[in-house]
Amino acid sequence: MNLNERIPNNVNLSEDKRLQRALEKWLPNFLSWWNDMGPDGFQEKDVWLRTAIDVGSEGWAHFDYVKMPEYRWGIFLEPAQADAKVGFGDNYGAPAYQEVPGEFRNALRRIIVTQGDTEPASVEQQRQLGHTCPSLYDMRNLFQVNVEEGRHLWAMVYLLHGYFGRDGRDEADALLERRSGNPDKPRILEAFNQPCDDWLNFFAFTMFTDRDGKYQLSALAESGFEPLARTCRFMLTEEAHHMFVGDTGLSRVVKRTAQLMKQNPNEEVRALGGIPLDIVQKYINFWFSYSLDLFGGEISSNSADFFAAGLKGRFKEQEQYTDHVAAEGSFTMMVVEDGKLVPREVPLRNALNEVLRGEYVKDCEKGLARWNKALTDEGLSQRLSLPNIRFHRHVGEYAGHSFNIEGNLISKEEFEGKKSEWLPTIEDREYVRSLMKPVTEVGKIANWIAPPTQGIKGKPFEFEYVRL
Ligand SMILES: [Fe+2]
Ligand SMILES: [Fe+2]
Repeated sequence: MNLNERIPNNVNLSEDKRLQRALEKWLPNFLSWWNDMGPDGFQEKDVWLRTAIDVGSEGWAHFDYVKMPEYRWGIFLEPAQADAKVGFGDNYGAPAYQEVPGEFRNALRRIIVTQGDTEPASVEQQRQLGHTCPSLYDMRNLFQVNVEEGRHLWAMVYLLHGYFGRDGRDEADALLERRSGNPDKPRILEAFNQPCDDWLNFFAFTMFTDRDGKYQLSALAESGFEPLARTCRFMLTEEAHHMFVGDTGLSRVVKRTAQLMKQNPNEEVRALGGIPLDIVQKYINFWFSYSLDLFGGEISSNSADFFAAGLKGRFKEQEQYTDHVAAEGSFTMMVVEDGKLVPREVPLRNALNEVLRGEYVKDCEKGLARWNKALTDEGLSQRLSLPNIRFHRHVGEYAGHSFNIEGNLISKEEFEGKKSEWLPTIEDREYVRSLMKPVTEVGKIANWIAPPTQGIKGKPFEFEYVRL
């Protein structure tokens, strides 16, 4: 691990002068992007952050006060495995690729660019949230997520520079040029152009949208293109914290809402400054449905090609499956035909986006169970739930059709009529925003959210996580 170079890395960057020079040229552009588009207003403050200083299971996370622009972004890959093999697809068992397989060069570059684009996008979406944090603990978590998304951008840029030559360098520059929500140069995926301007959005985003990241990275961590697999494996260790922030954040909101509901016999939490459960449910519906879109079309020849080539596997391909070729099987899914929902059987390899999405949904359900337990613990019978996977989709088989929350086909008019019951309205968003008053006193917390059960890395909640 070379931590003292301009770009910390464990890829022997100093031995590849051309690559080192190219990345050192990209570095000031990254920093100027960070200064323009990173967290607004807190760049000079000391934040108690973890920094990766080793990729081993021990000690990869070093905690200290850091000013964000001085965070040691770097290039860290999991160690290479001796005689790594392609783990699935038509080349199953062949030696892993150390270079990009020629015929998949464009497709692979697209995968890396699309993944890379989400990292700076989310930083841009979350840029103003520091000003309305419910506590210093939450503010610190936000900034931790932000600097790590910055590092994930580095991870993808390393691959583009290191393995794709000229067009990779151009793509790396473009990653700093697109802007979340900008109509002229938007980010690639729609979930990353949606505003994330209040903390309920932030928690739902890190719960549902970062979790999509987990599944995409897990599928790429299986890749036969070894530099990609090793990069993604290390990113996943950091990603776990982002989902923790979202999952526990929502759990704390639900818990606080439940407490307020009990305080008020009419269970009207607005009067007490809480977030009503139906608004929480609408935010879940919104971010869950947008995040489902990120998996791509239900029936996809790309997914079949990537799998065949050994480039993008299934979730826990090695652990969960015995047949790594998957050339035979089929998968049955519901599609719309002549205005009706009917089952269709497709070759398994063409259904791998849907298979991955299914894994994701199972994981999200565990989050819902935890939040519902928070309701049970407070003695309430109300329950939160996930909408059906067909609800409010903009990509794939269900896009262009209207479904209710249970997944039944309905008319567009019916959908429009019910929309305000299912998705956040302007009034809902304004109400949530009205609660977003910053609380920055050590150990204090906003009224609409419960404190966490414990602090970060052995520190209590009452710790000065950000020195203002
Ligand atoms: Fe990330
Ligand atoms: Fe993340």
